[in-house]
Amino acid sequence: MSKNNYRLEELEKLVSLAKRRGIIFPSSEIYGGLSSVWDYGPIGVEIKRNVKNLWWKSFVSERDDIFGIDASILMHPDVWKASGHLESFSDPLVECSLTGKRYREDHIFILEIETKKENKIIAIEASDKNEAEKLVKEKIISIIPLIESESKENPSPDGGTLSDPRNFNLMFKTFIGPVEDSSSTVYLRPETAQAMFVNFLNVLNSSRKKIPFGIAQQGKSFRNEITPGNFTFRTREFEQMEMEFFCSPDDDEKWHDYWIQFSLDWFKKYGIREENLMIRKHESEELPHYSKASSDIDYLFPWSWGELETISNRTDYDLKAHSELSGKDLSYFDQENNKRFTPYVIEPAMGADRSVLAFLCDAYCEEETEKETRTLLKLHPEIAPIKIAVLPLSRNEKLSEYSRNIFDRLNSLYTTQYDDTQSIGRRYRRQDEVGTPLCVTIDFESVEEDDSVTIRNRDTMEQIRVSSDKLLEAINDQLKSF
Ligand code: GAP
Repeated sequence: MSKNNYRLEELEKLVSLAKRRGIIFPSSEIYGGLSSVWDYGPIGVEIKRNVKNLWWKSFVSERDDIFGIDASILMHPDVWKASGHLESFSDPLVECSLTGKRYREDHIFILEIETKKENKIIAIEASDKNEAEKLVKEKIISIIPLIESESKENPSPDGGTLSDPRNFNLMFKTFIGPVEDSSSTVYLRPETAQAMFVNFLNVLNSSRKKIPFGIAQQGKSFRNEITPGNFTFRTREFEQMEMEFFCSPDDDEKWHDYWIQFSLDWFKKYGIREENLMIRKHESEELPHYSKASSDIDYLFPWSWGELETISNRTDYDLKAHSELSGKDLSYFDQENNKRFTPYVIEPAMGADRSVLAFLCDAYCEEETEKETRTLLKLHPEIAPIKIAVLPLSRNEKLSEYSRNIFDRLNSLYTTQYDDTQSIGRRYRRQDEVGTPLCVTIDFESVEEDDSVTIRNRDTMEQIRVSSDKLLEAINDQLKSF
């Protein structure tokens, strides 16, 4: 099996593991699900919470130059006028003449392929060229994105032809109050960023902080994506973790480089393998309307490289646009240099759900043991949903009492699970599959003879015996070793 096919197969296995072990479920599943909308289960919610908390710790709590906020999803519609989203937050949409199915024009690739009988022209839907290449088995003679193709015949992936593109705005509309008309139209925010711009003065005045400083928040964003997909990679409802760093226009490039490196280091610190991460600088033609320069942190997903985070130099675009439309002065007076200016903004914008998916993909692994294939998630202990599982060897009264005591001691310090169902082998497998770094096993010797327990390491499967009074020390040492 080729490496690429292997990786795609790996994604299918991860999706099925996620369902089986309570990590991620299709939304409203009993009604047949809702396309590309997902729910986090009891294990997944802990993983996502850990990822969000670690981001908050690194980007907000551990620093004295970043402030957090938690703003509303609904905002004044003028916010989206000033930000440019009403006018230009759209994707080019094309429609198949045969099926009526809609595609993003920039996600269609025209391929000439060599079949046994003759060369054929086909259309493939993919997020980039690499992914398109992986989707065909035949020899590829040429591959051209539809938007660059000069041919008048636009084949559709469904066999018909594709219409000319029309712009489709990605913002979800709703109405505020009981009357549904244009004066009551509001939008579900398509990014969390704008709340940081419209609260710039509030935070500046209440914190009395000098520039440079940042404002950060985490929360839901909504985009009516034309072609969502690849599990939780592209969905219509998702969470973002964004920070707007306000600095002097003279320092913008220095801070841009700083936040790119900071973000890359953050992913590495929590266990993503270096070879699966890269920094990709945007070409000038792909820069969003507000950006002077942008770089992505990309991850090698099972289907191809995909964006986890964009770090953009938004210049003074947003503050100036909001100043103009609202009539409020959003400039800053630099007392030291006796200078007034509109701050520039560097924006690290990360997806919470995409990051969770990358942590899961990177942690997923299968190992051959003597008896079977062992599936495990090698998650960093800080991301692991359960840190320790307490496993009495059997359901015996004495064992249970002793084990419950151990559980109570550990659970006040670490997220711990008590499990006394099924065979010990099965319980180890279950914990391996959700990435629990350590299992503490209690047997009859523990209770009757040596007051000691066994600690099993998820990755090495090595077991050590420690006396119960040294348990905490041993656990701390073991957790540090991952
Ligand atoms: N404020 C800038 C901004 O929103 P973006 O590159 O459009 O920039 C930032 O989004 C991050 O949000 C992306 O890198 C990605 O991780 C996440 N994201 C964007 N659209 C998404 C979608 N449809 N589904 C899941 N995550 C998404």
